[in-house]
Amino acid sequence: MERTQVGIVGAGPAGLLLAHLLYTEGIDAVVLEARSREYVENRVRAGVCEHTTVGLLRDLGLADRLDREGLPHGGFSLRFDRADHRIDLAGLTGKSITVYGQQEIVKDLIAARLATGRGIEFEAADVALHDLETETPRITWTDAGGTARELRCDVIAGCDGFHGVSRPSIPAGVLTAYDHTYPFAWLGVLARTAPSSEELIYARHERGFALHSMRSPELARLYLQVDPTERLDNWSDARIWDELATRFSVDGDFTLREGALVEKSITPMRSFVVEPMRYGRLFLAGDSAHIVPPTGAKGMNLAVADVRRLGPALVALLRKNDSRPLDCYSEQCLRRVWRAEHFSYFMTTMLHRAPNADPFTDRLQHSQLRYTVSSAAAATSLAENYVGLPFD
Ligand code: APR
Ligand code: PHB
Repeated sequence: MERTQVGIVGAGPAGLLLAHLLYTEGIDAVVLEARSREYVENRVRAGVCEHTTVGLLRDLGLADRLDREGLPHGGFSLRFDRADHRIDLAGLTGKSITVYGQQEIVKDLIAARLATGRGIEFEAADVALHDLETETPRITWTDAGGTARELRCDVIAGCDGFHGVSRPSIPAGVLTAYDHTYPFAWLGVLARTAPSSEELIYARHERGFALHSMRSPELARLYLQVDPTERLDNWSDARIWDELATRFSVDGDFTLREGALVEKSITPMRSFVVEPMRYGRLFLAGDSAHIVPPTGAKGMNLAVADVRRLGPALVALLRKNDSRPLDCYSEQCLRRVWRAEHFSYFMTTMLHRAPNADPFTDRLQHSQLRYTVSSAAAATSLAENYVGLPFD
């Protein structure tokens, strides 16, 4: 049987960053990932890094490429009733965000991990967790070569996302789940064209929400609110561009630049939290414990925030036999998680149009939007949540 201090399940932002934090503290870890390296490096996900996320990556020496290629943004636009209203993130908070694709962070973290000489077990199949309530939990799996493997750990970190094996390994009745689904999904595309605007545009339109984002000066990222039952086959490139043009229409200077669509996907929207983020010697981090709808751009940032606490708490246990930080882990994370859950829900409900929206809800949305862009207090509240609240 193999042995490590921390068994990490999942090589997304949470698992990879945790592996790096532990490495810098001299703690041994093994990372198991169900997919191939190529798959995780090319999976298109969101792309907004809070200033707190960027700060942590810089402190760890992991931000060289992010600093070169990431796009710093000091504001974004809320577009409704054919007019733009800028939210001046930098002016209101003194902070900005950085647009840099999550898969680019994953590539940087994988490169950093491999450079340490400690690998990643890609294509690990049949991953199963055992003896979680003991001080020697185990992980079994079948490796890429088809060999059955077994790993004894001091602690297991469940960083395997919403569909992973960690959360379902916890016995029934231990966790409380809070779940909310929305009557819409996002159709997302990557377009080979220069972005149509320097900043992100969150557009609320009678036909539904649309978002204009980007990945680089040559690549735009665009989203349309669609019905959750919608199929990609129904959306030709021409229909997507037509619908985007309608929802981004504005009185003023704006041309939606079109280009070849290189990626298309539909993602349902959901809010989900389990409490606590722990069972015995298994600690959940990131999407395995909570998901948010993408409107507030919080998913990856929350995963990073969990790991920022989990890393030092594991070091305290494994170096000094001090379990107190781990005992507070779930409670402390959940405070930030619930703030982000509320913020994402707020952004989502303010900007999306429910299929059978009644006129009352419509009026409330408009009132909220007008208030947000006309009151410094309301705009600051939005801005400070968006750039990332400080850590206590
Ligand atoms: N065994 C091993 N690995 C697994 C298993 C399993 N049974 N199941 C899933 N995985 C892997 C996935 O393939 C994925 O690479 O775990 C990883 C989890 O990564 P993410 O889903 O990226 O989750 P996380 O690291 O928590 O990052 C959260 O990802 O989904 C986005 O919007 C979300 O931005 C947020 C971020
Ligand atoms: C993205 O660029 O993918 C993105 C940006 C902002 C969001 C969500 C996604 O709120």
